[in-house]
Amino acid sequence: MPDLYPLARRLLFALDAEKAHHVTLAMMRAADATGVLGCLTGSSRASDPVGSAVEVMGLEFPNRVGLAAGLDKTGSAVHAFGEIGFGHVEIGTVTPLPQPGNDKPRLFRLKEHDAIINRMGFNNPGVEGMLVNLSYSRKDFSGVLGINIGKNAVTPAEEAISDYLLCLEGVYGAADYITANLSSPNTKGLRDLQNADTCRELIRRLQEKREEVKPDHGGKHVPIVIKIAPDLSDEAIGALAGVFSETRIDGVITTNTTISREAVAGHALEKEAGGLSGAPLTKASTAVLARLRAELDSAIPIIGSGGVMTAEDAQAKFDAGAALVQVYTGLVYRGPRLVEEIAALRV
Ligand SMILES: Cc1cc2nc3c(=O)[nH]c(=O)nc-3n(C[C@H](O)[C@H](O)[C@H](O)COP(=O)(O)O)c2cc1C
Repeated sequence: MPDLYPLARRLLFALDAEKAHHVTLAMMRAADATGVLGCLTGSSRASDPVGSAVEVMGLEFPNRVGLAAGLDKTGSAVHAFGEIGFGHVEIGTVTPLPQPGNDKPRLFRLKEHDAIINRMGFNNPGVEGMLVNLSYSRKDFSGVLGINIGKNAVTPAEEAISDYLLCLEGVYGAADYITANLSSPNTKGLRDLQNADTCRELIRRLQEKREEVKPDHGGKHVPIVIKIAPDLSDEAIGALAGVFSETRIDGVITTNTTISREAVAGHALEKEAGGLSGAPLTKASTAVLARLRAELDSAIPIIGSGGVMTAEDAQAKFDAGAALVQVYTGLVYRGPRLVEEIAALRV
């Protein structure tokens, strides 16, 4: 089956980046609803997945490749992403209340670098809206569903933890795992939660809340994962590794987007505020993964995200100690074929 994505990409790249995003999701949902998505993308389906199943955090993942947070922010295309081969889909970031995000334009392609800069600012339908979307989009999805949580922009920094607790409580019944996003550069003060003491407190309270809500969900245990930035010093990574090991967090995602522009210096869009993702992030993100792996309790799994543009990039993350990988910008530039190539890797 020929790869139709290069053609689709030419059409999509002729549109404004955010418009292209909405068009893509609408087309995927329509193709999924009519049962032709797998044929159109030429990719494998989660119901008949490429790759081998693997157990991570006590959950059975159909393969080792997942969709990174931020592409399905509303949780309205979960089954469709499963159909193009993802073994897990992480939706969100969701906040307690709906919010519009930052002013447009807020999404930019740096085509010369296979990269994106975004400052979306957690545009999302809020916990309740997302749960409504999931009630139809998740039907028949056989992969693992992660729900990524954050804070509303209007919530003061000193009350940030309350927002995470509200989200955890709200999404607990729907999630297979929950990711606390401490690393988006587009919400003021969010990354300060990566300070070791604050992070310890956040994890402790999330774990407490989990124990509190478990009985309402038949004793279901939902793993909690922390997502960190690539812009942390070695010292900060070391301090966080200590906190993660001590609190027995269930997993860590390395990394989110970077605020560094070193790898795209001189590009016309270099000065756009926001997080940079894609090829310029690959090396730095894998270096953070390797550094954390060296310092973290070996029983705690790491999920590698950041510049996975080829199967070789994914392999480098597995070699650095990742149990799973996630893709966002690589999907925009390479299309669904990338998912299949990664899933087929023998790790
Ligand atoms: C447009 C866009 C929006 C994103 N939104 C979120 C988000 O809401 N929550 C989050 O944890 N990460 C978000 N991310 C970060 C991705 O999940 C991923 O960690 C990062 O882009 C690095 O991976 P990549 O190089 O494969 O894109 C976003 C990334 C992009 C490009």
